[in-house]
Amino acid sequence: MKKLLIINGPNLNLLGKREPDVYGSLTFESYFETLKTTFPEFELFYYQSNVEGLLIDKIHEVGFSYDGIILNAGAYTHTSIAIADAIRAIKTPVIEVHISNVHAREEFRHHSYLSAACKACVVGFGLDSYRLAIESFK
Ligand code: DQA
Repeated sequence: MKKLLIINGPNLNLLGKREPDVYGSLTFESYFETLKTTFPEFELFYYQSNVEGLLIDKIHEVGFSYDGIILNAGAYTHTSIAIADAIRAIKTPVIEVHISNVHAREEFRHHSYLSAACKACVVGFGLDSYRLAIESFK
């Protein structure tokens, strides 16, 4: 079975409570249960941290053995050269995802340091962005 890890960055632990008009009213934990039911053919794992270095440690930890990483780095998307370097340093392909359409929001969200290091990006489909990213590993 292919192993895929979903990594969520800062503030995404508050999904369901945080700006529900932008990010929806479902917690990621409950959505993750739906994903596991939808994709019995994959071994799905989930990791969340608000700490940039811990996200990098996790990318290093799985990045030579897992089949894919689905990464929503939250606001680190727009600031983190270190996460971009971590993505370039590993072998596992990384798909960048965003719940909201970052291009329809504030200008500072239009640039991603990560996109050029990732295999592909899925942006703006709400939580469904994660499902669409997983589909690409079929
Ligand atoms: C986000 C978009 C980012 O700009 C923001 O900082 C987030 C969430 C999204 O999934 O839409 O935390 O990555």
